[in-house]
Amino acid sequence: MKFKNKIKNHILLLGIILSIFCSLLIAQAKLGDSPDGSRSPAVHRIKLMDHDSSAIRMYQQTQLPFSTEMTCGSCHDYNKVGSGWHFNAGSDTESGRNGHPWIYTDPTMLTQIPLSYRDWNGAINPEDIGLSVFEFVKKFGRHHPGGSVGEQEDRWESENAFRWNVSGKVEVNCLVCHDKNSFTDRSHYAKQLKKENFRWAAASTASFADVSGSAKDMPDHYDIYYGLAPDESKAIPPQVNYDKTAFNEKDEVFFDVTRNIPNENCYFCHSTMLVDNERSEFWKHGQDVHIQRGINCVDCHRNGLDHQIIRGYENENIDKKSPELADFTCVGCHSSADNGLAISHNNKGPIPAHKGLPPLHLEKISCTTCHSGEMPKNNSFLTKTSMGHALGTHGINKADSTLPHIITPVFEENNSGKIVPVNLVWPSYWGWKTGDDVSPMTEDVYKQIVKVALSDLPIDRNGSWPKIEENMITDILASLAVQKSESTPVYVSGGKIYSIESGELKQETHSNASAYTWPIAHNVRPAPMALGSNGCKDCHSLDAPFYTSLISVDSPLKTNDAMMIDFQSQDLGAAQLFANAFIFRPWLKGIIYLSVFIVLSLVILFFFKGLQCWLGSAKKENMDG
Ligand code: HEC
Ligand code: HEC
Ligand code: HEC
Ligand code: HEC
Ligand code: HEC
Ligand code: HEC
Ligand code: HEC
Repeated sequence: MKFKNKIKNHILLLGIILSIFCSLLIAQAKLGDSPDGSRSPAVHRIKLMDHDSSAIRMYQQTQLPFSTEMTCGSCHDYNKVGSGWHFNAGSDTESGRNGHPWIYTDPTMLTQIPLSYRDWNGAINPEDIGLSVFEFVKKFGRHHPGGSVGEQEDRWESENAFRWNVSGKVEVNCLVCHDKNSFTDRSHYAKQLKKENFRWAAASTASFADVSGSAKDMPDHYDIYYGLAPDESKAIPPQVNYDKTAFNEKDEVFFDVTRNIPNENCYFCHSTMLVDNERSEFWKHGQDVHIQRGINCVDCHRNGLDHQIIRGYENENIDKKSPELADFTCVGCHSSADNGLAISHNNKGPIPAHKGLPPLHLEKISCTTCHSGEMPKNNSFLTKTSMGHALGTHGINKADSTLPHIITPVFEENNSGKIVPVNLVWPSYWGWKTGDDVSPMTEDVYKQIVKVALSDLPIDRNGSWPKIEENMITDILASLAVQKSESTPVYVSGGKIYSIESGELKQETHSNASAYTWPIAHNVRPAPMALGSNGCKDCHSLDAPFYTSLISVDSPLKTNDAMMIDFQSQDLGAAQLFANAFIFRPWLKGIIYLSVFIVLSLVILFFFKGLQCWLGSAKKENMDG
């Protein structure tokens, strides 16, 4: 009996050891996952694999798009890459500080809504405005490197199940970043997502593949393997055509992939363009000082296979519990402090002396406040971004005032009590107010009503707000009021919420109407263009734009156009009193000399008076005596 038990135990143990061994074998790093140390790039002449992991061969009749998951994933851990920051919105990851939102705009509906699947302060979840994942990908996938909600099947709404079947998922598009072939067409990728060609999108980026047709035009039952019945439709099904000369006799193609991603690849999604009629031509705009001096995006924004790209902000090391990240912030590179970390990067920058600047400034003001973004002027600017304005894609409205209206630069105090420069958008949307809470309506509720109410308005070709009057808002809100009894319809815009109270349009400020802001880090301006390079009066003077710059309040309603920046924590009154002190500062020396002179004269006067007095009384004493 005992012996039998022993054997049983041994067998169990053996089983455990075997299964550990097997799982180790399976979990073994893939061929491309652990660099061997050669700094010479690995040449990628590889086989293309379709989504079912069959190799794509030139002799086949119908060609299928290649899959990055199956193609690149055969030698690199695709899921690990896909867990990275660029691809994980929508999953449970630490959101960190606010970033650039997606901005849903429709001037004819009077809406401009900052969206994100991340838990960012003030951003609205696309689900809350009734935007399905499918529509989100179609609309914003153009500047997204894939993965994220386009791959998170548990988030896909069932009503779109057929459409997902036809379109396929949106895989991580390795090429949009890593491919340095100059024929790689990122705008082509953007176009495929609009046409619902999700499965074909990554392939369309490649220099040797051409995608035509549109999944959008296909019926729900369309099957990519069988195609359309000849009589079914005149629409062209999505299809890929490969350049046959790109394939060698083993059906391999060459990808010019690199770890040293060129800045231009990142710029497809991360460009900004200031709207300034004094700088109407492109050559009048500058670039980040680091880029100009040969430091590339990926020298600072690095990552390993997990693609947790370094965001570079001050407390990222705490948010991500990764102490080494402190080495890749502005301070990390521009101070001599050795934090004892083993990271070696040769990009330590010059250590600023900041002569005469009281140290309090570096505690209270971020480096980016003085060094990054646009120099503050009397009025804030509008700026355009790739993510916001679809820069670099076909057929966009290039007018200066096209929505969204991103306002820059604005200074505000962040959670750690530091002043930082930010971009800002004012949310505009139709919502329900229940108690003190305001939440956005879904579009189907208001679309028809707004359309009818505004049908006579001329549509501006510049893509900006139409000019509306208050009574139009009143009419729309009145029509919406009948839809729901327990909530009040409101219009949120320009920092206010508008509602009807006894027939009149009432406006009030409300926290849900406040602007969405996110920090600016780029472009970094060189030292002679820093705030403070013209002296302390850059900030400490009565008319310093740092304090007095006007920020536009953006709304289709005619509001008082702009407001002073007593933004959040900054107390303009106190700042101006303080600035007065700086005006008198040059006089100070004179005043001190003058006072010393007066005091000294008085002392001398009193001394002689006293002496006289004393001598006088001594004389008297002598005479008396
Ligand atoms: C046949 C296997 C294989 C396939 C398929 C493959 N790779 Fe690689 N890859 C490698 C190897 C091996 C390395 C070298 C690892 C090292 O030493 O850094 C590498 C390195 C890389 C690097 C780092 C390059 C550098 O400059 O150091 C990138 C980026 C990369 N691969 C991307 C891709 C992408 C994108 C795809 C899909 C289009 C892909 N790989 C497909 C094997 C492969
Ligand atoms: C948003 C841009 C982006 C996309 C998309 C992207 N990568 Fe990367 N990848 C990077 C960056 C940035 C690095 C780090 C470069 C550095 O640190 O110099 C990197 C590094 C790598 C490395 C080297 C990792 C190491 O061990 O050091 C490999 C391999 C790689 N990527 C493969 C892939 C594959 C495969 C895909 C697609 C499934 C992909 N990448 C998609 C940006 C991207
Ligand atoms: C196809 C578009 C695309 C490309 C190419 C791309 N990015 Fe991004 N990047 C994004 C998007 C979208 C986000 C916001 C992601 C989110 O919140 O889900 C982002 C976020 C970032 C962030 C974090 C920003 C923050 O708020 O802190 C950094 C840093 C970044 N990207 C750097 C890079 C670098 C460096 C490259 C080139 C290697 C690159 N990106 C290429 C689209 C792109
Ligand atoms: C010299 C290092 C460095 C270089 C080069 C660099 N960055 Fe950054 N980047 C940073 C740091 C540091 C931050 C965060 C700064 C902060 O807010 O404290 C940042 C922030 C960002 C952000 C979020 C804030 C914002 O301004 O939008 C994005 C996006 C970004 N970088 C993209 C890029 C891209 C794209 C490139 C290349 C064109 C690039 N960076 C080059 C250091 C760098
Ligand atoms: C990876 C390290 C690194 C990071 C992170 C970094 N810098 Fe630098 N910075 C450098 C280096 C190196 C130079 C010098 C480039 C040169 O002149 O060759 C430089 C140059 C500068 C200059 C120009 C000085 C001059 O000569 O005019 C300024 C200003 C500056 N950095 C500010 C910043 C700010 C602000 C941040 C944060 C957004 C930042 N840096 C982040 C490494 C870094
Ligand atoms: C109050 C505004 C202000 C703040 C905050 C500030 N700087 Fe500066 N910075 C300046 C001015 C003005 C200059 C040029 C005159 C000088 O060197 O003192 C300068 C110069 C520099 C230089 C060039 C030094 C050289 O010798 O070439 C670097 C690099 C720099 N700053 C980085 C930083 C970093 C990193 C931070 C954050 C820790 C920071 N600055 C915070 C205003 C500021
Ligand atoms: C970027 C704008 C900026 C520049 C440039 C600047 N300051 Fe300031 N300074 C501030 C702000 C903001 C405060 C208030 C900080 C706080 O208490 O929150 C301040 C506060 C001060 C204070 C009061 C400190 C205290 O204890 O309350 C002094 C003194 C001062 N600055 C001197 C200077 C001098 C001298 C210079 C030039 C070398 C200078 N500042 C340049 C923005 C600036």
